[in-house]
Parts: sequence; structure tokens; C-alpha cells
Amino acid sequence: MEKKMLEKFNEVYGEGGDIREYFAPGRVNLIGEHTDYNGGHVFPCALTLGTYGLARKRKDRKLRFYSMNFSRLGVLESSLDDLVPSEKAGWTNYPKGVMWAFEKRGYTFDAGVDFLIYGNIPNGSGLSSSASLEVLTGLMLKDLYGVEELTMQDLALIGQYSENNFNGMNCGIMDQFASAMGKKDCAIFLDTSTLEFEYAPVKLKDARIVITNSKVKHSLVGSAYNDRRNECETALRELQTVVDIKALGELTEEEFEAHKDVITSDICRKRAKHAVYENQRTIRAVKALKENNVEEFGRLMNASHVSLRDDYEVSCEEIDILVDLAWKIPGVIGSRITGGGFGGCTVSIVKNDAVDTFISTVGEKYKEAVGHEAEFYVVDIGDGAHKIA
Ligand code: GLA
Repeated sequence: MEKKMLEKFNEVYGEGGDIREYFAPGRVNLIGEHTDYNGGHVFPCALTLGTYGLARKRKDRKLRFYSMNFSRLGVLESSLDDLVPSEKAGWTNYPKGVMWAFEKRGYTFDAGVDFLIYGNIPNGSGLSSSASLEVLTGLMLKDLYGVEELTMQDLALIGQYSENNFNGMNCGIMDQFASAMGKKDCAIFLDTSTLEFEYAPVKLKDARIVITNSKVKHSLVGSAYNDRRNECETALRELQTVVDIKALGELTEEEFEAHKDVITSDICRKRAKHAVYENQRTIRAVKALKENNVEEFGRLMNASHVSLRDDYEVSCEEIDILVDLAWKIPGVIGSRITGGGFGGCTVSIVKNDAVDTFISTVGEKYKEAVGHEAEFYVVDIGDGAHKIA
């Protein structure tokens, strides 16, 4: 790919100069869903799939963007003097947002850039292609403009800031953090209330991580996500009248049960219940994994799905079909929805010798049930964003 990208870069922007190359991965979250904006724990890992970028500084203030995934759009041009979101800017709102966020932090750019990207994360799959593009842009800016003091963690925070404030999606830190900080063969056990984290080796011995793409993305994703956040905030405010907490993630299940009646709306109580229980499940799941108890890890993944389906209500028919089918297959250790929800992907842990049956059986029955095919990716856990020499 890298050779093809360079050829394209030369064709689109002309040859020569200091062209640099970067990569930022997508992510899959193993457990800990919708906990990252509730001060809880998450357990994502970076994929080897992600977004590649080639960049060269310009002499003027122009910004030129080209995506090999959207080549029919050609070069999308903008300028450092036009860092405002707009509909016509399309996908370039992500890199522009990161540039804007750098400027908000007090970094200014002396010149524009020619930027060419190619991503191999399936579009709209919920595997964080946008977070990977944000982190990629951050890394490119840090390197190309020599902003040495920014750490990879800073780049994750800048990416999240731009997504929240430039692109209007009120996401938590998980996706950008996983893309920036990922480590080969490890998942990241991250406490989102402090950003303290630990790498936990994912040693599945005789099993693999299989991602199943439902190929549906229901509309209103952004607004339903923001609704969930608001519901959790309402529940938190009510709980704060009886317990001294800053976030739902501080509560144990017992504490929640003791105080939950102070939450007046049934809906908000269910949302908060998920946030509290999911956080505790995540802590337990990581402990189980460390003890090589993959079965317990799988059971907790399944429980996570039930909670996301019934209490948090971010699943959908297609995803529930995929999970129900997966649960019936011998050799499936655990299976659940992953990411923001309302479509997208499931993540399953499947014994090596069951992977083929898993793909053919779930594939066939899913098509029968919904009328279109699912896609399967047997994935590896890769490193976080980096420059390619
Ligand atoms: C999306 C958001 C994340 C996180 C997940 C749900 O991926 O970007 O911050 O909230 O949903 O766990």
C-alpha cells in the first residue's frame, strides 16, 4: 500500500521534498462499554487495521487533502485561515478539527500541508476510523511542525477535544486513547477518571478475536449517544444528593442498589445501573484474564451484552441476532456488541478450531434473517499510532 500511496501522492501533489508517513490504528473494545464518560474503566485494544497518511509541508497557508478511499472527491482544499467545520468539507472536518484544536492549545502553524490518506478500517463499522484519523493528524502535526512536548496521550486528548467541539460528537476518551496508546498483543486497562492505565497481555492461547460487522448503522447515532450521556448525568445529579461521588464509576453494585431509588426516572436508573455494573464487570474481566480464566472473561462479555441490550438500550435487532447466533456455537467463549452501538460490530472470542464454523454458520443464518451479509475479521492486536520510517 505504501508504494501505491507514494505514487498517488506524487501524482496528486507533485514529487519531491520531505514526505513523511504515519499510521494510526482503529480499535476494538473487549469490555467496558459506555463507561468512559462515566468515570469508569474500559478495556480496548488497537487493531492492525487503521489509517495511513503521507504528508508534506507547504510554503503557503493552503491545506490540501486527498483520501484514496474517496478518490472521486479529488483534492479537497482549505486553508489555515479557514479552520471552521462545514458540511462541504466532509471527511476533512476531522483533520481540520485537530488543527483547530492544536491552535486552541496555543500552537500555530507557519505553513499548510499536503495530506494524503488511506484507511483499511471498514467504513461505518464502529471500529473508530474517525478517532484513528484524528490521532493520525495529531501525530503528523506533532512531527512535521516539531511540537515535541506533546505526548501520545496529549494527542488522544486533542483528538477527543476536536471530536467534541469541532465535530459535535460528545464521545469519551476511549477510542482516541486506544489509537494513540495501543500496544501489540495487549489490551489497555484504562481508568477514565484518572487516565491511569495498564497494558494487559491478551493471551487467548487457543482462541482468536473475531469481529463481525452487521453492516448496519442506524441513523441518530450521534443524538442517541448524547441522550445516553444526558441520562447518566441526570442519574448522577440525583445520586449526588445522597452520596459523595463525582462519577457513576465510583460506585460499587451494592452502593448503587442502596441508593438507586433516589433516581426518579426508570430510564435514567437503568442507564446508571449499566454504567455502574459494566464498570465492575470490566474490573473483574481484567482480573480474570490476568488469571488466565478466559471462560470467566467470556461470561462477563456476554453479561455486558445483555446489559447494553436491556438496560442501556444501545443494541439493535441485527446485532442481537449476531450475538444470539454466536452464543449458540460451541467454541464461542464470549460475544457482545462493541463500540457506541445502534449497529456496527460485535466482538467474539472464538476457539481456533471453531472459527471456520463460526464464520460460516453465523454468516449463513444472519443473511437468512436480515437479507444481507455480515463481514468477519479475525483480528490481531497491533501497536498504537506511529511514524513509519
Ligand atoms: C463510542 C465513543 C467512545 C465510547 C463508546 C462506547 O465509541 O467514541 O468514547 O463512549 O462509544 O463505549
